[in-house]
Amino acid sequence: MTESGDTVRRRRVVVGVGGGIAAYKACALIRILTESGCHVDVIPTEAALRFVGAATFEALSGNPVSTGVFSDVPSVRHVALGQRADLVVVAPATADLLSRAATGRADDLLTSTLLTARCPVLLAPAMHTEMWEHPATRRNVDTLRADGVHVMPPASGRLTGADSGAGRLPEPADIGRLAALLLDGGALPWDLAGRHVVVTAGGTREELDPVRFLGNRSSGKQGHAIAAVAAARGARVTLVTSADLPVPPAVEGVRVESARELHAEVLRLAADADVVVKAAAVADFRPVEVAEAKLKKGSGSEPAEIRLVQNPDILADLVAARSGGEVPAGTVLVGFAAETGDATASVLEHGRRKLARKGCDLLVVNEVGRGTTFGEDVNGGWILDAAGGETELDRGSKDLMAGRILDAVAARLDGRPASDPA
Ligand code: C5P
Repeated sequence: MTESGDTVRRRRVVVGVGGGIAAYKACALIRILTESGCHVDVIPTEAALRFVGAATFEALSGNPVSTGVFSDVPSVRHVALGQRADLVVVAPATADLLSRAATGRADDLLTSTLLTARCPVLLAPAMHTEMWEHPATRRNVDTLRADGVHVMPPASGRLTGADSGAGRLPEPADIGRLAALLLDGGALPWDLAGRHVVVTAGGTREELDPVRFLGNRSSGKQGHAIAAVAAARGARVTLVTSADLPVPPAVEGVRVESARELHAEVLRLAADADVVVKAAAVADFRPVEVAEAKLKKGSGSEPAEIRLVQNPDILADLVAARSGGEVPAGTVLVGFAAETGDATASVLEHGRRKLARKGCDLLVVNEVGRGTTFGEDVNGGWILDAAGGETELDRGSKDLMAGRILDAVAARLDGRPASDPA
C-alpha cells in the first residue's frame, strides 16, 4: 500500500531456467527477486529439471511450475505468462536456448513465453568457452541483441569441470542488479560495444601520516554504477577508484588513493579512451608534508598547523591534453559537480559556471549536503552540455542515473568510429 492507500501492483517477473549446471544459481536469483517484492513465475526447460527439481522452484517462487505448453491448457499459460510479465530473465541461458530464442522457436513453454513477451528480456548465458566463442553462438547473440534482447556478457572463471574461461554464469546479485534497472524503467541498449570508457570514482585520500588522511564523504557508488552500466551496454570499462566497493563484473579496476595517483592513471588511460567520466570527488588540496611516522600527541612531533598545497585539476588537464593531441579529439569528457546553493547563485547556476570554467563536454550537477546524494542509493540532478542544453534527471537509483548519463554520452558518440572494434 502507498501512503495514499493505493495498492502497488507487484511487478511480475518470469525467470526462465535453461538446462545447465548453473541452474542451481537461478535459485538465488529467484530469492533476490521475491525478496524485492516481485511476483515470480519460474519456467524451467525439461533439461533444467534434471539439475534442479520443480519442487525447489515452486517453493522459492510460491507459484506452480511447468515446462510444456500442454499443462494447464485452459489458462493459456504459453501466452499469458509472457503477455503479463514486466520482465523476463533467463539464467542460465544455454547455447541451445540462445539458438532457439534467436530463431524464434516455440517448442516449449519458455521459448513460447519469449515470443509473446513485449517487456524487456534479459538473458544471462552460461556455457563452456568453446560454445560461447563458436561462430554459431556469436551469430545468435548478435541476432538477439539486434532484436533488442539484452544478452549479458558471461563472467570468466571456473567452469563446470577443472577448466576455466569465459562462459561462467554472472553472479545472481549482478543479474538481479540489471533486472532491477530494467524493472525501474531503465534501458540496456548494446550501444557502447567497441568503446573504451574510463570512469573515476570515490573520494581521494590525501595522506597526512601512515595512518591518517584528509578525505571527503564521497562513497563512490555513482561512479561504480556508471562503470557497471557501461559494461552492461558493451563498453570496455576501466574504473579508477578509491572507493571501498567491489569492482563490477567485466570491469577492469585500478585502485588509487591520492589525487596525484588518480591524475597519473587517468591521463595514461585517456590516451585511448572514447569517454572519460570524472565522477571522483578529487581533493583540491593535499598536505605539504607527509610524516614518515605516525604523528603522536605529546611526542613533540605534533604539527602546529597543517599546511596545504593545491592538487592538479585532472579534468582541466584532460581538456588541455585533448587540445594538445595527447587525448583523442573525439574523446567525450564528462565532469561532475557536487554543489550546494549559496547567497550568490543556485546549484544550477554554479553548475553552468563550472562547465564553462572546466571546458568539458557534459557536466552532471547534483545537490549535496544535508543528507542528499553522498552514500545514498538514489540520486538526481541535471546534465548540462557545452552548447547550453540542460536535461533534468528525476530522482532515481544510481544505476538509473548512470543510464541517463550514458544516454547523453552515447548521443555524442553517435557516428564516430569505435576505438576498439570487436
Ligand atoms: O572543481 P570541482 O572539484 O568542483 O569540479 C568537479 C569535477 O572536477 C569532478 O568531475 C572532479 O572529478 C573533477 N576534478 C578534477 N581534479 C580536481 C578537482 C576536481 O578532475 N583536482
